[in-house]
Amino acid sequence: MIKIGKIELPNHPLLLAPMEDVSDPPFRRLCKMHGADMMYSEFISSEGLIRDAMKSKMKLDIFDYERPVGIQIFGGDEEAMALSAKIVEAVQPDLVDINFGCPVKKVVCKGAGAGVLKDIDLMVRLTKAVVNSTHLPVTVKTRLGWDDESINIDEVAERLQDVGVQALTVHARTRAQMYKGHSDWTHIERIHKNPRLSIPIFGNGDIDSPQKAKEYKERFGLDGMMIGRAAIGYPWIFNEIKHYLATGEFLAPPTMADRLEAAKNHLIWSMEWKGERLGIVEMRRHYTNYFKGIHGFKAHRQRLVTEDDPLNLMRIFDEIEDFYKDYVIEQL
Ligand SMILES: Cc1cc2nc3c(=O)[nH]c(=O)nc-3n(C[C@H](O)[C@H](O)[C@H](O)COP(=O)(O)O)c2cc1C
Repeated sequence: MIKIGKIELPNHPLLLAPMEDVSDPPFRRLCKMHGADMMYSEFISSEGLIRDAMKSKMKLDIFDYERPVGIQIFGGDEEAMALSAKIVEAVQPDLVDINFGCPVKKVVCKGAGAGVLKDIDLMVRLTKAVVNSTHLPVTVKTRLGWDDESINIDEVAERLQDVGVQALTVHARTRAQMYKGHSDWTHIERIHKNPRLSIPIFGNGDIDSPQKAKEYKERFGLDGMMIGRAAIGYPWIFNEIKHYLATGEFLAPPTMADRLEAAKNHLIWSMEWKGERLGIVEMRRHYTNYFKGIHGFKAHRQRLVTEDDPLNLMRIFDEIEDFYKDYVIEQL
């Protein structure tokens, strides 16, 4: 069992990555149904939370059925981070996670996200400010370092543990890599073997199949894995990996009916949570992902992304189901 404060996770848990504009409550609900052991909110700006910005506040929405769930914050100012951790505490997530990995310019420029990879003292001060302001367990998600010449995850991990961080997730890329090149998990393996470190260390980056998950679990031996992009439009990845790790066999791939049900639920829950109009519009970018590789889906997708009326959308889903009723999806 893996413990983070009072949170108890199964051995080698699979975590859903925090993803802006993706890991909202409707998507998290699907991932939970399909085996995610712990999940995180999208990152929330500490300054936005303090300003009471509507968009930031909405990201604080969590539901009991998704527990354990963490809320992720980012920022470059100690006071703002401490205050926002208190705001987060009020909605009672299971933990607060700090983002020190976001490579996006608008975040890095403010000395937040991966920006602090260049200034470990600041990173430690920001973390300490959060740890001291909340009773919740504090975890961190970060990258290997700023660039290849400045990989500093060894020092970062020790110093974060020393100020009270209770788990660390490392995306095995540098800031300079953004999302390109390959993720190098050997660095995470090294810190996991560091006898000074006792907190759980989770690996992240490029896990996109049961085989890869098994290979990485055996090769790098970490405490668990976090999965991001591979879950977008494919929440089944969690149970598929778990089943393969446990039995060495593949689960049958989701059928067309499974995919339609997931996409329809995603749409319905999005409308419920975001409001009808926004729910419909923001769901449009997800259809491609749910039906990747489905022969002839383009025309159906076109209908889904141009329809504004929820009842008509449900009708289109029924028609698509009927169209594909004899369609068989091969194991990839
Ligand atoms: C659309 C998108 C949004 C993301 N937003 C966040 C975020 O809010 N916080 C964060 O820590 N990482 C964020 N990330 C990074 C992911 O959490 C993860 O570290 C990265 O995608 C690598 O994992 P993967 O290869 O499994 O996708 C985001 C990634 C994507 C693709």
